[in-house]
Amino acid sequence: VYALVRPLLFALDPHTAHALGNWSLGWLEYVAPLRALARAVSSPPANLRTTVMGLSFPSPIGLAGGFDKNALRPRALAALGFGFLELGTVTARAQDENPRPNLFRLPRDRALVNRLGFPNEGAAAVVQRFARHGGAAATGVPVGFSIGKSRVVDVGEDPAPILADYIESFRAVHGVADFVVVNVSSPNTKNLRALQGAALARTLFRGLTEENARLGKKPLLVKIAPDLDDAGLDDLFGVVAETGLDGVVATNTTLARRGLATDGATVEAIGTGGLSGPPLRARALEVVKRTRAALPKVAVIGVGGVETGEHARALLDAGADLVQLYTGFIYRGPWAARTIGRELAALAGAA
Ligand SMILES: Cc1cc2nc3c(=O)[nH]c(=O)nc-3n(C[C@H](O)[C@H](O)[C@H](O)COP(=O)(O)O)c2cc1C
Repeated sequence: VYALVRPLLFALDPHTAHALGNWSLGWLEYVAPLRALARAVSSPPANLRTTVMGLSFPSPIGLAGGFDKNALRPRALAALGFGFLELGTVTARAQDENPRPNLFRLPRDRALVNRLGFPNEGAAAVVQRFARHGGAAATGVPVGFSIGKSRVVDVGEDPAPILADYIESFRAVHGVADFVVVNVSSPNTKNLRALQGAALARTLFRGLTEENARLGKKPLLVKIAPDLDDAGLDDLFGVVAETGLDGVVATNTTLARRGLATDGATVEAIGTGGLSGPPLRARALEVVKRTRAALPKVAVIGVGGVETGEHARALLDAGADLVQLYTGFIYRGPWAARTIGRELAALAGAA
């Protein structure tokens, strides 16, 4: 059915299509019998169940950060067969999206470019909504929250205001999240990626792990950019080990524009932003490999260009414990997690 619907959705501008998609998901979110039906046809094969970070996942195929920034549709998304969700990114301050246009499709590459810049209703408001929807328990899957830096807080010499801003979000989400992802890798918040440098990262991760110990320990992960070079990755991995983070999400979107089928003029006209989807796949795989080699004990979540069970398998074989997708959900449609899960289960059966 999605093969018929997609051309219609893709005829709309991406924001309208997203709103329409969310409207449709509203039926699943609010009508329990529909959700039960969806769950009955999409629940993952039993051999996909896996335990990571002390949490039990019905499937290693999860929804990546950024799709449900405001926790509008957690129960619906879980009912479609995702084995876990990462909600957000939320920030301590509510904030608007960057000026439009800020979201583009590259259909020839099955890719997206976005420069949204963490639009969200603010950590506290989003957490309240999530709790009203029954929290993680109502979804039946582990639910993580991604936290980012509020746009109004500058990245300057003094790390204290940045840490305070992250801590505020962390405190808001800690009670309802099964795990928390520290997002320091979106390309669309000015200087955010500077927080991946060793000195700032150390201050940030140390502050957050101390707060985590005070509040009661939840798995704490960092999401990293695919655009770090080897030295940058090694420095950051050193800080992850030193501060005792529980995991790494690799990777966020890329600023690179290599190997695209979309013509150069179109790409140029779109301008800056994070590229996602298949053009990112090879680099994400590479970064997952490096992460696993450097950090044998932490949890690794692989993300970037996953559209099939084979893509998921490749990330798992490279050392990921779990996998996520965003762009593949847009191009493959609402049943993407279910389909990919079954493809993955079939591969496991064949092995
Ligand atoms: C429109 C859009 C918005 C995104 N917003 C976020 C976000 O808020 N936080 C985050 O950590 N990642 C965000 N991402 C990145 C995805 O979570 C993911 O890391 C990236 O898109 C690569 O995966 P994919 O190829 O499966 O899309 C966003 C991606 C897209 C396409």
